[in-house]
Amino acid sequence: MVCLGNICRSPLADGLLLRKIKERNLNAQVDSAGTANYHIGKAPDSRMIKTAAKFGTPIEFLRARQFTAQDFQNFDHILVMDQSNYSNVIALAQTEADQKKVNFFLDYLYPNQKSEVPDPYYGTLKDFEAVYQLVDEATDALIQKLFHEQ
Ligand code: 4NP
Repeated sequence: MVCLGNICRSPLADGLLLRKIKERNLNAQVDSAGTANYHIGKAPDSRMIKTAAKFGTPIEFLRARQFTAQDFQNFDHILVMDQSNYSNVIALAQTEADQKKVNFFLDYLYPNQKSEVPDPYYGTLKDFEAVYQLVDEATDALIQKLFHEQ
């Protein structure tokens, strides 16, 4: 799960997916990263922590890190939150196989639309809740697609 800062959107997607994988006894490794280096080592944004907790998803234990080319070796799916994340991640791809791993996270919910998860960083708590609902739906769609759950 990749966004810009790794303190709002991608840690939420990471935490939601971790929670659902655990609840369903599925087997997968999940992680998140930001394309920027602004917030390395930091916990998620307090507004995102608060919003996620309100809906039963713990994310406060996650720590921000920067996306690196090594991530192409470590992961099968690299899911970006917006177009600028896509460009930044694709710029680090070294092979066509690397490029193919990169997809828009919301494409699981809205196939082939390259829809973006809006960045709530400069928004209100209402924007954080809207992001939660969207990412919650998209993680359900992702699990159905990747784990063939009904
Ligand atoms: P994120 O949100 O990419 O969803 O983690 C942002 C967090 C921080 C900044 C921008 C977006 N920032 O400019 O510091």
